[in-house]
Amino acid sequence: MLHLLTLLSTAVLLLLVGTANASRSWEESYKKADSLVSQMSIEQKVNITSGTGMTGLCAGITGSTTNPDFAPLCLHDGPLGVRAADNITAGLSGITAAQSFDKIALRQRGVYMGKEFYGKGINVQLGPDVEVMRGPWAGRIFEAFGEDPYLSGVAGAETIMGIQSQKVIACVKHYILYNQNLNSSSSSVVADERSFHEVWAWPFARAMEAGAGSVMCSYNKINGTYGCENDESLNGLLKGEMNFQGFVMSDWFATHSTAKSANNGLDMSMPGGDMDTWFGANLTAAVNNGSVSEDRLTNMATRIVATYYKMGQDANFPRISINQANRTEAPFVDVQGDHAKLVRQMGAEAVVLLRNKNGILPLSKKLKKIAVVGSDAGPDPNGLNCGDNDLLYNGCNNGTLAMGWGSGSARFPYLVTPYDGIRAHAGKDLEVGHIFTNWDLDAATDLASDADVALVFASSDSGEAIASVDGNNGDRNNLTLWNNGDSLATVADANKNTIVVIHSVGPVLMPWIDHPNIKAIVWPGLPGQESGNSLADVLFGDVNPSGRLPYTIAKKASDYAAPLNPHATIDFSEKLLVGYKWFDAKNIDPLFEFGFGLSYTNFNYSNLKIETSDNEDKLVSATVTIKNTGDIAGTEVVQAYISFPESAGEPPKVLRGFEKVPLEKDGETTVAFEFEKLLLSIYDVEKAAWVVPSGEYILHVGASSRDIRQSMVFDIN
Ligand code: BGC
Repeated sequence: MLHLLTLLSTAVLLLLVGTANASRSWEESYKKADSLVSQMSIEQKVNITSGTGMTGLCAGITGSTTNPDFAPLCLHDGPLGVRAADNITAGLSGITAAQSFDKIALRQRGVYMGKEFYGKGINVQLGPDVEVMRGPWAGRIFEAFGEDPYLSGVAGAETIMGIQSQKVIACVKHYILYNQNLNSSSSSVVADERSFHEVWAWPFARAMEAGAGSVMCSYNKINGTYGCENDESLNGLLKGEMNFQGFVMSDWFATHSTAKSANNGLDMSMPGGDMDTWFGANLTAAVNNGSVSEDRLTNMATRIVATYYKMGQDANFPRISINQANRTEAPFVDVQGDHAKLVRQMGAEAVVLLRNKNGILPLSKKLKKIAVVGSDAGPDPNGLNCGDNDLLYNGCNNGTLAMGWGSGSARFPYLVTPYDGIRAHAGKDLEVGHIFTNWDLDAATDLASDADVALVFASSDSGEAIASVDGNNGDRNNLTLWNNGDSLATVADANKNTIVVIHSVGPVLMPWIDHPNIKAIVWPGLPGQESGNSLADVLFGDVNPSGRLPYTIAKKASDYAAPLNPHATIDFSEKLLVGYKWFDAKNIDPLFEFGFGLSYTNFNYSNLKIETSDNEDKLVSATVTIKNTGDIAGTEVVQAYISFPESAGEPPKVLRGFEKVPLEKDGETTVAFEFEKLLLSIYDVEKAAWVVPSGEYILHVGASSRDIRQSMVFDIN
């Protein structure tokens, strides 16, 4: 009886949520697509594969067909939310979401974005961006998840599963080896087979396992051939090795041929219209003259239609309610729900506490006066969203920085500045003085000198090369703080309790790091619209920070392996030594290492145990005991790194697992890791396969890539 009731209530629940989570198998979706596409003429199939130009409501809109009917698909940016639209949520950028190291929050972020894209009638979300960050100068690093392929893979997969649970097709980008704005449409990138698989393709492979419905090929050439007409990377790796079932679309204007692109794996050219004519009538002609087979065209259209069925978009998909060219003319549809709550929580838990001397944070309840200093603490004097100029796509950095610029940005519906957040939290007994200019150092010093604590704010911005900001053409010209930020830090001369807060797209240099008055350094990243609230939650101790760096912050710029490369051929010569792996292998001390971040409490690691088995799904299992030994509740990010047998030729250690563990004061728990075959494999170029090298491995478990607390050797033969 009870069983029957449970069944009934599950059925009711399914009815209530409608078909939101109904998921067809690819097989079934292909069957439906085959039957639709088989009724189409060559022109109709071509229509589906071709964009209709840049003047439409969405970043891209495909052509449609009648009899049989297939509606146009709306493809729209971007990886952090609905771009160029109102009544949406402008939350954490990818890089800051990665700072959370929180799989559950990453999934929830995907879910709420999926809801918003769905609500606005957008079929394809142009995100997530899963490129591994090669160097800190590259302007678009803020869109993606940092320098480690494993972390990027997990973050990408969670995001995709979240987005697609809401019937929206995720588009993983930019495939592949697209790592700087500079000359990206003309340069050819060369990576050796092994690092190509182990580093650059890794997150894309995880995205495929997560069921990503589409992939955007990138602007650059790969080994001399453009990414959108590259047989090896599209047909060989993506559709072959990775068994990708969905469709490949070009980045905007990244198609360079008709037959070559179609034959080598491109399924859809964007944006189409008058300025991108490679598909459309030219594709029809190519099929008619035999340079592209009709079978291939059928496959292109079928992949697109099958993906549409796979996500269940054939049932009552909402009408498009964005208008990127004339934003204010879009119909009113508010998709924000209560998503701001998650943005605030995730923003707070993503804060990385880099330094906290004498326990200056959280701020003492006894403080009488604090000083808030810097343009990065206040509003943009020109107004929200760059004086409301949509075309700049957030291309400005005059007030507090909460996202980068370009197609990976969204409009802020509002932006809680750090000052607003602090003010709201401070209550009436704490005086909060402020100065929002960075150029009057005397006034800033005056203000700081008679406060109990001085909070100094600074930032560093970057974006996509569709806009140039302060002379930075997408990529950053340097890694220094913007707007006189480094001089501002000298306000510390006047206050022995100075806290520096940095909003940045990625690593910056910290020439003031040794100043004895700088007691704390706080790194919120790019938190989005709830910025000030998330920050205040941490500063005042409502949230114990648990963010970790998804990249290495170096002592000097020359310590990084890969500066921007202006040449026609860009050789990824550091091979496997990307990010912290370079610093480890070359014995370079970073300022703050990958995975680093402090808490207001302490954690003890003990009792690491390992078991090996023949089961490929869990070749190695490990457990470790974590105890909160401090005075308050907190959350640890337990990280698992593997050292391969020496003969394998791997970097000294590679991240292969992490778990986020909340613990009450004195709380203790056992954290388990399982390492399947792939996690202990290297890519064997001769065999063209992933193989587990035999020999002696070491598992390191710790609080960062350089704060290893427990290590244990195990053998695989
Ligand atoms: C960017 C893509 C974006 C597309 C559509 C291109 O400039 O590289 O990331 O999705 O435009 O706006």
